[in-house]
Amino acid sequence: MTSRLSESGFGLELQDVDLADLNDQIIERVTKAFYASGGALLIRNQEHLTPENLRDFVALFGTVEKNEKYNPDFLMPDFPEILRLGNLMENGKRAALWIKSDDVLMWHSDDTFRDPQPIGSCLYCVTAPPTGAATWFAGMTHAYQALSDDLKKTITPLTALHSYDHLNEFLRLSNPHRPPLSEELLKELPPIERPLVVKHPVTGKKALYVTPIHMESVNGMTEEDARPLLNQLLVHATQPQFTFAHAWKSGDLVLWDNRCAMHAPSPFDADKHDRLMYRLTINGEQIESAAEQS
Ligand code: OGA
Ligand code: MN
Repeated sequence: MTSRLSESGFGLELQDVDLADLNDQIIERVTKAFYASGGALLIRNQEHLTPENLRDFVALFGTVEKNEKYNPDFLMPDFPEILRLGNLMENGKRAALWIKSDDVLMWHSDDTFRDPQPIGSCLYCVTAPPTGAATWFAGMTHAYQALSDDLKKTITPLTALHSYDHLNEFLRLSNPHRPPLSEELLKELPPIERPLVVKHPVTGKKALYVTPIHMESVNGMTEEDARPLLNQLLVHATQPQFTFAHAWKSGDLVLWDNRCAMHAPSPFDADKHDRLMYRLTINGEQIESAAEQS
């Protein structure tokens, strides 16, 4: 059984599955549900999964990353596919990637400034604080479909520069422990041009591709014209009917698709409570431009 997680139909919860038993029938159900979800699939009650079970599930959707770009202290020992997120400390040192969240939701799809971009991630809850730390999701296919024809026409030919440096400097404002990007990284990851409307390589559906915190500029537009447009599109895409917040319990898992969904973390009291999540990231078929087809 599946149930909807937002009014527009974006986001699905798939019930009565045990991901430790990946038989053909379950594989068909989870893959169908994932592509039907518009980019966010929730499955609960998976606290019994082993790291291997998690990896085998995620591998149904692409190649599982080994997280080379992260500090090895943040990876599960002998299991580099699992990146730990949260406020976990071991021997006085951070043992998980810690990104402090603000009250303002930082909507994004991951690493839009990388080529190839990771196509999605699976976030698996080990320990959740009693309140806070929900993750928000927004469906960009549903949001695109609800735009006026005029606005669709205006934005479809547009492209933007996505930049890691732009994001990093923004994150440094609230995470002073975060270093500036090294010369090496700046060279390795120069800004990349991406369309504002993309086509999903598997479903063929168009989606808005607007992550203002990664976007340095919109090509052919001044900053004064571009920011209000990007903000307008973000406000549109994050209306209640296209979004849901998932309040985590241990054993919950959400698989998201960076090609047609955004997500945003929310804060919790990290001095009082623990949060530990496992994150597995997938590489695979990249977004296409929607401009040629329209
Ligand atoms: C991520 C992310 C949100 C969260 O892992 O890319 O944005 O709530 N996580 O942990
Ligand atoms: Mn993210």
